[in-house]
This record gives sequence, structure tokens and C-alpha cells, in this order.
Amino acid sequence: MDLVNFGYNLLSIFVFILPAMVANGTPVIIHGLPPIDMGKKWRDGRRIFGDGKTWGGFLSGIIAGLIIGGIESLIVWHNILFDSLIASIGALLGDLTASFIKRRIGLERGAPAPLLDQLDFYIGALIFLYLFAGKVFNLYAELAFAVIIYALHRLTNYTAYKLKLKSVPW
Ligand code: CTP
Ligand code: MG
Repeated sequence: MDLVNFGYNLLSIFVFILPAMVANGTPVIIHGLPPIDMGKKWRDGRRIFGDGKTWGGFLSGIIAGLIIGGIESLIVWHNILFDSLIASIGALLGDLTASFIKRRIGLERGAPAPLLDQLDFYIGALIFLYLFAGKVFNLYAELAFAVIIYALHRLTNYTAYKLKLKSVPW
């Protein structure tokens, strides 16, 4: 694959994933309302998702992702609102899936799950963009972007911890 194509793919991923990144980060600041699992437990006696996944966080994430998609639409001169909605829903469902997995293996809310914590929303967004918006990116560009996402996630979460927005630095 040539470098120009790789660069173009990286840029495309950035454009379509940016709403997902914002959708994933917004609930840290804006959350509330009942937990998505309504406090219910799975058959293993542990919470389905836990108190870290709320309806308020889910909705604020979707709205924030849509706003970013709207701004991007103006910049790229092309309506990508639908894609940003799909990416945001995928991101939040990816995050929810990770919480589900964490609870099933016995990890408490907020306990670290390396790689899963950083990449859950990115994988969810890529899957949703592929399934519902027909977006296909180069695999190597996706992997390269995953490294960027990982580093950014570590940095932003550490910052959120320092700002006392989060109780743990991951
Ligand atoms: N959050 C929320 N609703 C969501 C997602 C996130 O309210 N759907 C908020 C919660 O306050 C959560 C914070 O954003 O604590 C950070 O999210 P995350 O790190 O994914 O949650 P954790 O608290 O680490 O919980 P888990 O162990 O389930 O990942
Ligand atoms: Mg988490």
C-alpha cells in the first residue's frame, strides 16, 4: 500500500472517529439519570453493567458526537451527521460491552482492564461504521490509529483524574 493511500485512510478514520471520541469522553463530564442496567444483576449475582454506565452519559455522548458531526459537516462540505450518529452509538455500545465483560470476569466498576478500557469505543465505532454506514478503512491504518487512540485515552484520562473528574487515572 502506498503512503498517500495510507495517509488518506488515516485522515478518513480521524474524520469519522472524532465524533466517537467525543461521544466516549463526554459522559465523564455529563452523566446522571438512572444506570442503564437500572441496578439489575446478571445471573452471576453481579451488576449487568454497573453504576458507571448511566442513561445521562449515554444521551450526552450521542448528542456531543452529533454536534461534532455537525461541525465537521460544515468543514468537509458534506453531510456526515448520519455517520457521526452511527459512530457515536457504536462507541457507547462498545463501552457498554466492555463494562459487561468486566463485570462478568468479576472486575468492579472502575477497575482497570488494559487495552479494553482504551479501545472498546474505537472498536465499537469501527464495527458500527462498517455495518450501518458502509465505511471500510485500510486495516493497517486502523491499527495505526488504535495506537494513537490508546495514547490519547491514557493522556486524557490521566488529565481527567488530575482535574478530579475521574477517581482513577485509567
Ligand atoms: N459514564 C456514564 N454513562 C456511560 C458511560 C460513562 O455515566 N454510558 C460516566 C460514568 O460516570 C463513568 C465515567 O463516565 O464512571 C467514565 O466511564 P468509564 O471509564 O468507561 O467507566 P468506569 O467508571 O471505569 O466503569 P467500568 O468499570 O464499567 O468501565
Ligand atoms: Mg472504564
